[in-house]
Amino acid sequence: MTSIIAVAGKGGVGKSTLAALLVRELASRSGKVVLAVDADPNSNLGEKLGVEVERTIGDLREDLLKRSDEVTAGGSKQEAMQYQLRLAMVEGRDFDLLTMGRSEGRGCYCYINNLLRTYLDSIMSDYPYVVIDNEAGMEHLSRRTCQRMDALIIVTDATKVGLMTAGRILALAREMELEIGSAVLVVNRVKGELPRPLKDAIPEGFARVALVPHDQAIEDLASSGGPLTSLPRNSTAAQAVRELAGELR
Ligand SMILES: Nc1ncnc2c1ncn2[C@@H]1O[C@H](COP(=O)(O)OP(=O)(O)OP(=O)(O)O)[C@@H](O)[C@H]1O
Ligand SMILES: [Mg+2]
Repeated sequence: MTSIIAVAGKGGVGKSTLAALLVRELASRSGKVVLAVDADPNSNLGEKLGVEVERTIGDLREDLLKRSDEVTAGGSKQEAMQYQLRLAMVEGRDFDLLTMGRSEGRGCYCYINNLLRTYLDSIMSDYPYVVIDNEAGMEHLSRRTCQRMDALIIVTDATKVGLMTAGRILALAREMELEIGSAVLVVNRVKGELPRPLKDAIPEGFARVALVPHDQAIEDLASSGGPLTSLPRNSTAAQAVRELAGELR
């Protein structure tokens, strides 16, 4: 059974960082290739994973729409789609990465989106774990990418406002009637212990709360532009993410 893990949260709190580190830990735990999905139109998960992205699903959607008649005349649209999807998949050492790219323009995409959904579903089922890095906010937690998730991880910074926002994002996700296995709150960039007022401000509804420490090694990689795949495994954040990965089904 594929386990789908979606990472969400407000802007700049560490969603992509956590997603990239989770991909590495889940691959190493399972000994299998993990599917990473970058569902943020301002995609940068590829960078964090140290691979170059040349094509996105958005590009292929546009291509298919433009060549709509041609494609149907010259063969099946399904085949064209499968071929293009393979082009949009970047293979890393222990992960494959799909980058969703920009969402659609003005044309009629229903047919293409339906096809895409079918293919994404069938692709996902080949992996033990799928980790989806989402755009900031929750409105965007795209039903097109996935409606069912085994774990919804909402990342926040260690501030009172951040915690409140995380609670709101979870409420919104529940309103959207997404199928959520378990909701996990990750408080990121924690320095030392979580102070009492913050502990008291942890919103309800999360099955688990995990703290990921502020890690100088991550900051150093961010300034040098190095990928997170080279973060030492014994760095404090990597260890915290390993523990979290161990608890995900
Ligand atoms: N635990 C950590 N320790 C130190 N720095 C961190 C940690 N987590 C994230 N960062 C840094 O915080 C910044 C934002 O992280 P990241 O890009 O992962 O956030 P994001 O939520 O994906 O942002 P966006 O909303 O723009 O997609 C980056 O510079 C990253 O290196
Ligand atoms: Mg991001």
